[in-house]
Amino acid sequence: MKPTSRPELFDFEGISMTHYFTDNWEKVKNFQARPDDILIATYPKAGTTWVSYILDLLYFGNDAPERQTSQPIYMRVPFLEACIQGVPSGTELADNLPTSPRLIKTHLPVQLVPKSFWEQNSRVVYVARNAKDNAVSYFHFDRMNMGEPEPGNWNTYLQKFMEGKKVFGPWFDHVNGWWEKKQTYSNLLYMFYEDLAEDTGREVERLCSFLGLSTSVEEREKITKGVQFDAMKQNKMTNYSTVPVMDFKISPFMRKGKVGDWKNHFTVAQNEQFDEVYKQKMKNTTVKFRTEI
Ligand code: A3P
Repeated sequence: MKPTSRPELFDFEGISMTHYFTDNWEKVKNFQARPDDILIATYPKAGTTWVSYILDLLYFGNDAPERQTSQPIYMRVPFLEACIQGVPSGTELADNLPTSPRLIKTHLPVQLVPKSFWEQNSRVVYVARNAKDNAVSYFHFDRMNMGEPEPGNWNTYLQKFMEGKKVFGPWFDHVNGWWEKKQTYSNLLYMFYEDLAEDTGREVERLCSFLGLSTSVEEREKITKGVQFDAMKQNKMTNYSTVPVMDFKISPFMRKGKVGDWKNHFTVAQNEQFDEVYKQKMKNTTVKFRTEI
């Protein structure tokens, strides 16, 4: 359903949120995970759809062809915390998934993830993307998605991004929180968008080994080809062209798919300021990002 106005940000358990992700909170919090569930967790715009599609093909690529030709990726991989009037909520979709395993997407910071995922020891694939490209991608997404708060101009946007005043909170805390979780929770694979862009085939192989899948080399090669940017951009089931709140005349969902596009957006001054903030906020973590490949 098309919203009539853009939502406001508010503080929810210390995180900036919009009502679309908190309206169903009791059900989200009490969501019953299963041991074979696979949670795909990301900060928005880090490559969620890319990894969702890879996992979907790895598990269900050879199932009934209708799955691939008539079910958009966001129906196959429900967005757990999403609650939008007129369409089934993420928890409802997940509860009704007929597949095993269930692939479930979330943008929640690690501390807000329903505890049943940890109790069930479900597998988690976290995807992180360097902060600069992530900010640029999020900016264009917020411009075209009427379900997001008004982004303002690029400079205002970047300031808010550095302050963590974006839906799902600060990028810094998100990637760091999940990185810390990985140190104690062994069923978590922490991936990078930049690695996927550098060598998708290698990352598909990593995923297979984490998930215990013995997918053949031929099958992996086929999947790797099918999930390249141009293929996904052409594919109506993965390019989000079926979502009415998104205005592709402003910017397409599958926008550029590059590492280093931030260089076309950041001024020298913005870059210097960002690097300073980054140094401060990332000083206590060992996670390392690449802003070019
Ligand atoms: P850009 O805006 O930089 O193009 P998410 O799925 O988490 O919302 O992330 C969307 C971002 O991932 C967009 O980035 C999109 O183009 C990029 N993306 C999606 N599929 C991709 C692919 N197959 N290869 C490269 N980038 C991809």
